[in-house]
Amino acid sequence: MSDRNELQGRHIVLGLTGGIACYKSAELVRLLTKAGATVQVIMTEAAEAFITPVTMQALSGRLVYTSQWDARAANNMPHINLGREADAILIAPASADFLAKLATGRADELLSLTCLARPRESAALLVAPAMNREMWSHPATQRNIATLQADGTVVLGPGCGDQACGETGDGRMLEPEALRDALVAHFQPKVLTGRTVLVTAGPTFEPIDPVRGITNHSSGKMGFAIARAAQEAGADVTLVAGPVHLPTPAGVRRIDVMTAQQMYDVVLPAAAVHEVFIATAAVADWRPASQSDQKIKKEGKKVAPTFELTENPDILAAVAALPRPPYCVGFAAESEHLLMHAQAKLQRKRIPLIIGNLGPATFGRDDNSLLVVDAQSHHPLPADGSQADKLSLARLLMQELADRLARLPA
Ligand code: CTP
Repeated sequence: MSDRNELQGRHIVLGLTGGIACYKSAELVRLLTKAGATVQVIMTEAAEAFITPVTMQALSGRLVYTSQWDARAANNMPHINLGREADAILIAPASADFLAKLATGRADELLSLTCLARPRESAALLVAPAMNREMWSHPATQRNIATLQADGTVVLGPGCGDQACGETGDGRMLEPEALRDALVAHFQPKVLTGRTVLVTAGPTFEPIDPVRGITNHSSGKMGFAIARAAQEAGADVTLVAGPVHLPTPAGVRRIDVMTAQQMYDVVLPAAAVHEVFIATAAVADWRPASQSDQKIKKEGKKVAPTFELTENPDILAAVAALPRPPYCVGFAAESEHLLMHAQAKLQRKRIPLIIGNLGPATFGRDDNSLLVVDAQSHHPLPADGSQADKLSLARLLMQELADRLARLPA
């Protein structure tokens, strides 16, 4: 997602075990250090068959550890020191054999020793499996994964796709960017753990005929950032997206729709089973009253066609009017008089919270600044009124939301 220092001050132990995906771990070290982390690489003997410690040392800027008998540490206990220093240990790639070793608590070389000896409170263990699809789906591996998860290990992936062995299926190591993002997510405060959050995002597209329609400039970036931030904060997230070309944030359930009516049809039943509804979508207020089945042709027509418009349902107002509505957060995209319009919308839609932003200044851009408005008060986000990137804003908003949810009567 970004080159920002999202891992500033974090010390990551990156463990490499035997697998062709070791070549991707070189790129992963670059991404982690670029994000501000210090990276301490530990390699198993099998990993050294795929990539050399020289490469990993050069990229990480630190001596690589490969042996539990490494005498460089004054106390001669690298397996203790390395775990104590770590904010997280990430095993990428994690081979089937190494996962089996972790699951049974074996510790016959430095990396597994370090994992077993680490202080579990301060150094989480994350594994990124990488193996042939038969190895991944084997009951033994699946048993080991279940055991590791029960022990609190975070399993990242694996992905699905072409494999080095020529087969296709589950077992690919996640890409380095996804692993970096997973680490960033891991360190976010879990302020929404156990909450269910429904988000709408993007524009809607209201067809005129099979090739034309009415839409708007919403890019969906703010809504996608909110879905990601909510997921990072520990929530179970459903994202209902209009037509945008944005990747689905990891761990988020996504439902694609085209029109306002389709969004309404998906959102209304979903809203009844979510605790929070965040409506960032720029829903078209009107749609053509009738849709032509065939392309409207210019040929032979002397006058331009005219369209009758009909109003779309107001999704947010409908959700807020449910018998047991979720906590509703609206967005007000305005071109002027932000506070006044936001307050009016808050009342009109009968919602507890609305987030204002100046639409034309933010559509499609990565930066934004928000105005948080409730019935009693309002304040800017960030607090100093500056601009921030949408993901940072979304994370601030999740904290704001968590505080408000905590104050609700039970
Ligand atoms: N919204 C919605 N369904 C609609 C229109 C808007 O759910 N049919 C939601 C948006 O997702 C947003 C909030 O209502 O959270 C405000 O949207 P906005 O377009 O700014 O407000 P409108 O109600 O359309 O008012 P106006 O067009 O007069 O600004």
